[in-house]
Amino acid sequence: MRRAMVLGNWKMNGRRADAVAWARAGAALAVALPGIDVGVLPACVHLAAAREAAQGSPLLLGAQNLAAWSDGAYTGEVSGAMLADCGASHVLVGHSERRHVLGESDAVVAEKFERAQAAGLVPVLCLGETLDEREAGSTEAVVLRQLDAVLARCGIASLARAVIAYEPVWAIGTGRTASPAQAQEVHACLRSAIAKRDAMLASLVRILYGGSVKGSNAAQLFAQADIDGGLIGGASLVPDEFAAICRAA
Ligand code: 13P
Repeated sequence: MRRAMVLGNWKMNGRRADAVAWARAGAALAVALPGIDVGVLPACVHLAAAREAAQGSPLLLGAQNLAAWSDGAYTGEVSGAMLADCGASHVLVGHSERRHVLGESDAVVAEKFERAQAAGLVPVLCLGETLDEREAGSTEAVVLRQLDAVLARCGIASLARAVIAYEPVWAIGTGRTASPAQAQEVHACLRSAIAKRDAMLASLVRILYGGSVKGSNAAQLFAQADIDGGLIGGASLVPDEFAAICRAA
């Protein structure tokens, strides 16, 4: 049985006081819902403040990105080891905004996945197709290509210490959610591709859904057999909405 997980990706939002307030709310939720994993992903400059605000609670803390290198002369970059030192246990890799706005390739995402694990962080590997790719009928090919790039570099066993998040690009921040059936179809495809290489790992790895999840649609999405929780953007900035999503999980 996979334990449900809900992660709030705050993206580039909030000031320190917001991070403290959101983390306090998240900590209270994590305490109130011991049957699921609740986590928040602040901007890295707010990690320490969020950690302090959530101290003593089971709230998971993560980062939204890490450098593709370990410590050294990489001006402006933040290494996985630095994030772990600030209290992060998880880190997103391959979020669509990094793939499509910042131009991260599958190869860079795979490098970051490897770096995250080397730093002791659990990578949350984000996969998803654009609207054009969906309309061209290539959704499955795209997400499997994105997954394979990581497995080719890190091996199937690396999934024992990772989480996958399916986030269709056309559903992110648009208010347009994938239907539960559309999301389930892709989650099942990913899980069966993993099962072909390792059936046990496939049954254990958590696959979260992300893209316009709200309190009002979360329960239906999370009721799908292969959807193990959510990666929440906008709604994670509204404590009541995030709480409703966590309760649905
Ligand atoms: P929204 O929930 O705002 O659509 O964002 C989803 C997302 O990108 C989470 O990583």
